[in-house]
Amino acid sequence: MIHFKTDEEINTMRETCRLAAEVLIMIEPYVKPGVTTDKLNEVCHDFIVSNSAVPSPLNYRGFPKSICTSINDVICHGIPSDQKLRNGDIVNLDITTYLNGFHGDTSRTFFVGSPRKKAEKLVEVCKEALQKGIDCVKPGGWLGDIGATIQQFAESHGYSVVREFCGHGIGANFHEEPQILHYGNFGDGLEIKKGMVFTIEPMINMGKPDLKVLPDKWTAVTQDSSLSAQFEHTLCVTDSGVEVMTRIEGRTEF
Ligand code: MF3
Ligand code: CO
Ligand code: CO
Repeated sequence: MIHFKTDEEINTMRETCRLAAEVLIMIEPYVKPGVTTDKLNEVCHDFIVSNSAVPSPLNYRGFPKSICTSINDVICHGIPSDQKLRNGDIVNLDITTYLNGFHGDTSRTFFVGSPRKKAEKLVEVCKEALQKGIDCVKPGGWLGDIGATIQQFAESHGYSVVREFCGHGIGANFHEEPQILHYGNFGDGLEIKKGMVFTIEPMINMGKPDLKVLPDKWTAVTQDSSLSAQFEHTLCVTDSGVEVMTRIEGRTEF
């Protein structure tokens, strides 16, 4: 069942979404060679808690930390550890906050130090793929248009789209219906309607789309060890189109 949000619920959700966006802005200066992902987890955790919110990942289905940190060939759900970031790495930080009874979910891939050209291209294409997906969101459109657009764009650059994870409805629950696929066909799936609130969060691999999950049961890595990038926003469908709820105009970089 899809929980369509009232205008009042959407208004309340703006706060948690804004906070999640603030976390990504706040953490950027810490994302430097030599920092451990545990340190990034700690700084984000403290910021979220000091803003009267709860980090949604902590203890979610047994996840042990407050954010996900996914480096290089890690597609998603990387667990913060004592691993240090190195110059040239790419790292996705995925932030979900719970405030006033609602979740907000956003992630961004950062460059650590100076990016290598090939990594830079992958990350830029992934960011643009998310925006092209967002541009499909308006009442009367189809959820399948989002995935079809993202897949076409990613594959036109010789990249591949991860199939095992998708975007999702979000609200009082971290993950709700509907599923938002990042691949597929135009016109497929449900009609897009005002009051839907969901994420779009494409994971784009430089090589093949296949993944494996490490024995920690969380960390998803590319089978061919190729680099993987991801960006995520939470958005709501308005009367005329879309509002990107985890974007702070002029301050959010994507
Ligand atoms: N934030 C992720 C998403 O975009 C989900 C993380 S689940 C966790 O849906 F348990 F790993 F935190
Ligand atoms: Co999400
Ligand atoms: Co997320």
